[in-house]
Amino acid sequence: VSMRPYNSLAVDVRARFFVSVASLEQLQAALVWAQQQGVSVLLLGGGSNLVLTADLQVLVIHLQLRGISILSTDAEFTRVAVQAGENWHAFVLWSLAQGLSGLENLSLIPGNVGAAPVQNIGAYGVELKDHLESVLVFDRETALVQRLSNEQCQFAYRDSLFKRESGRRVILSVIFKLPKHASLQLDYGDLRGYLAEQQISAPTPHDVSRAVCEIRAAKLPDPKRLANAGSFFKNPVVTSAHAEQLQKNYPHIVCFAQADGQVKLAAGWLIDQAGWKGVRQGDAAVHAKQALVLVNHGAATGQQILALASQIQADIQQRYGVELEIEPNVIG
Ligand code: EPU
Repeated sequence: VSMRPYNSLAVDVRARFFVSVASLEQLQAALVWAQQQGVSVLLLGGGSNLVLTADLQVLVIHLQLRGISILSTDAEFTRVAVQAGENWHAFVLWSLAQGLSGLENLSLIPGNVGAAPVQNIGAYGVELKDHLESVLVFDRETALVQRLSNEQCQFAYRDSLFKRESGRRVILSVIFKLPKHASLQLDYGDLRGYLAEQQISAPTPHDVSRAVCEIRAAKLPDPKRLANAGSFFKNPVVTSAHAEQLQKNYPHIVCFAQADGQVKLAAGWLIDQAGWKGVRQGDAAVHAKQALVLVNHGAATGQQILALASQIQADIQQRYGVELEIEPNVIG
């Protein structure tokens, strides 16, 4: 099976075995089959955070569990259970249509609901963990279905238990606790600026969602038109001493103070300033509007994209003494 339609970087490798599963029973049957055949397994959601570097001698299990249901509702909150195979953005729009808020800043993020907890998706000042109540998983080590609380998921910036113990737990569904009375998160500069420009003084969650969609569309390539895996690097966190020193040499450097005293740097700014924006090597390139995103103009291989990423990492290390960590999962 060609994996090209199943990864947003549109890398054309082949998978030896491939199956779509729409229920826990089908998932378990697929896992048993793989075990009997002695092949390993790759769990695939929307494929939007993946770099495939070689043909896969594995069973790819495409998770297609579907359904959204309201569990309970009171004066303040509605609790919603969403199956892993639901498209993330479609779910965000559904929640807004129900009069629920909380997820508007996370509009237009590619991928499926089941992948969202893995990297604790975040944008414009909101992270998934802010509205997630619990996650239902199938634990392959114990062969049990288990519910993990928000705390048990150990969420952090672009990180979670699922990322740290990669492959062990299959996310089946996610329960969200969404407020009925919006408390909007508008601190992020781009968002505030956009709303001011549009003269929207008392935004609704719908307004914020539309604004986020516009801002994203202006900077981030639509994977259907230009293949990409979103941010290719995490924003690096450095000591305050290191940040101060960088500020002396680069007065315009973009940085955000963290609660623990460390400083998060905008990797996109570092890469942009280093002259990489728009650089193309064959079909692998740095996006012309957002230096944090690597794109595939057609026939780039995962290796070629990683080769470009390595050059960027080495250059950023040399210029700023900062280590950039690759964000998507590299498989092959
Ligand atoms: N910047 C540049 N040049 C660039 C890119 C960015 O100078 O080429 C500067 C911007 O002007 C801004 C700063 O860097 O001052 C930060 O840029 P931006 O607001 O675009 O956000 P980001 O830090 O590059 C992160 C997330 C995105 C998320 C946005 C908005 C990570 C790794 N990425 O990007 O997430 O949408 O913030 O919240 O944290 C993703 O994970 O795939 C993703 C798109």
